[in-house]
Amino acid sequence: MNPPRLELRRVTKIYRTNGQKLEALRDISLAFEAASVTALVGRSGCGKTTLLNLAGAMDFPTSGEVLIDGAVTSALDEDELTVLRRKRVGFVFQFFQLLPTLTALENVELPLLLAGSPDSVEIANERLRWVGLEDKARAFPYQLSGGQMQRVAIARALVHSPQILIADEPTGNLDSASSEQVLRLLEESAGKFGSTVVMATHSPEAAAIAQRRVRMRDGQITTVEES
Ligand SMILES: Nc1ncnc2c1ncn2[C@@H]1O[C@H](COP(=O)(O)OP(=O)(O)O)[C@@H](O)[C@H]1O
Ligand SMILES: [Mg+2]
Repeated sequence: MNPPRLELRRVTKIYRTNGQKLEALRDISLAFEAASVTALVGRSGCGKTTLLNLAGAMDFPTSGEVLIDGAVTSALDEDELTVLRRKRVGFVFQFFQLLPTLTALENVELPLLLAGSPDSVEIANERLRWVGLEDKARAFPYQLSGGQMQRVAIARALVHSPQILIADEPTGNLDSASSEQVLRLLEESAGKFGSTVVMATHSPEAAAIAQRRVRMRDGQITTVEES
C-alpha cells in the first residue's frame, strides 16, 4: 500500500485569545489516501475548519504533526510552504471566495499564474469545460448563480491538479440541485484527478459521497465509518 498522502499524528490545537485557552482539537490521528473522499461531520464548533486549516498547511498544530507527502508542515520554511500551498493543495469554501473583479476564467487561471505555469489559459478553459461553464468564461461572479460560482471555485481549486482538495461546507450555501452538481464534481476530483478530498459538511447528502465519514465532537473523533 502507498504511504498516505496526508496524515495527522496525535494532533492537538489550542487557540489562545485574551488569555483564554481553547482546545479546538485533541489528539487527532488520521491518514488520508489518494483518490478518496473523507467527510468530517459534527456540529458547529467541533473543530472541522480547524482540522482543514491544518490539513491544508494554512495553520499548524500546537502539538503533534501534520504530514503532507511525508513532509512535516511545521518544519517547512515560508518558501516551501508557499510552494506547497500553491501546487499541492486546492481549497473550496462555503461562500466561494471568488475575486469579484476577475472573470470566471481569470479566477480559475489565477493559481496557475501564481505558480508561474505556462499554458494557463488553455488549462483554465479546460477546467471550466469540465464544470460545464465554458460559456461563462467572461462572466463576473455577480453575474453567476451560487451553484455556478461554486463550480467556478471547484475549477479553480483543481486547476493546478493539487494532490489535496480541502472543501469547507462546499454545499452549505446551495440549493439541492446545485449541491448535487457540486458533489458530483468533488467525487470526480477524487476519481478523475486522483485528489485526496477532505470535506467538512453538515449535509447527509454530501457525507454520503464520501468513502469515509469521520464524526467529531468537542475536538475529538467519536466514530469513523467506512463505506
Ligand atoms: N482563530 C480562532 N481563534 C480562537 N478560537 C477559534 C478560532 N477558530 C476557531 N476557534 C474555536 O475553535 C473551536 C472549533 O472551531 P471550528 O474549527 O471553526 O469548528 P467547526 O468548523 O466544526 O464549526 C470553536 O470553539 C471555535 O470557536
Ligand atoms: Mg467550520
